[in-house]
Amino acid sequence: MVDLRTPLFIANWKMNKVGREVQAFVGPFCEATQRQSSRGEMVLAPVAVYLSDLTKMTQGTHVQVAAQNCGAAKSGAFTGEISPVMLKDLGVRWVILGHSERRHVFKEDNALVNARLKAALEEGLTPVFCVGEKLEERKANRTFSVIEGQLAGLKDLGEAILKPLVIAYEPVWAIGTGENATPDQAQEVHAFIRQWLSKNISSTFANRTRILYGGSVKAENSAQLMSMEDVDGLLVGGASLDPLSFGEIVNRGLKS
Ligand code: 13P
Repeated sequence: MVDLRTPLFIANWKMNKVGREVQAFVGPFCEATQRQSSRGEMVLAPVAVYLSDLTKMTQGTHVQVAAQNCGAAKSGAFTGEISPVMLKDLGVRWVILGHSERRHVFKEDNALVNARLKAALEEGLTPVFCVGEKLEERKANRTFSVIEGQLAGLKDLGEAILKPLVIAYEPVWAIGTGENATPDQAQEVHAFIRQWLSKNISSTFANRTRILYGGSVKAENSAQLMSMEDVDGLLVGGASLDPLSFGEIVNRGLKS
């Protein structure tokens, strides 16, 4: 069962990199990770305006492309949104949903994130569904209940459509702070998520579903995080902006 969980590494570039910087990343990153390319999946998430270019640039390489969000409808009067139909049309297979910055800076609530998730799944995309608690919630011992609330919507979707789902645990207090969760802290929450999936979806689904960790991942901590039983990959922000730094995170993570 466990060996179905191919290690997965995603670079979330957030609102960084213009076209020439996107282009300059691909060659060095592919070269740095080529030797390990059969051992894990590697995905780059640029801002939406470069999805089309990056999809073309990575054609024929071992690297795939993700969007950082998608709309909850197929089309219509939703100014500023990008529909999952359009992502699919571009050849983009992956989409990050419910990222902490979407939830907390742009006030996307669980209902909206769940609607986006449903739309992405219906289009056959592979969603990377992000969950995570804020520092005050952790301090108040509310980590598990917050994450339960974020996961709750999965129950309504049903196992068949959820099949491609990837979950990312990103504690808000660890994002962009330089303070990563310790491998034990990450493992504790990942195990909780897997148990929740087992209880509320099915044990087969729980065993098969990849759970990524994100929050101040760097080359120095990637192997340790990846060595934890329930950590199946990494979602990387700041340290993914440099091709050699992200390459090192992948290479060390795959050796663990
Ligand atoms: P950092 O790696 O910069 O902490 O960001 C994590 C993140 O938000 C990835 O989605």
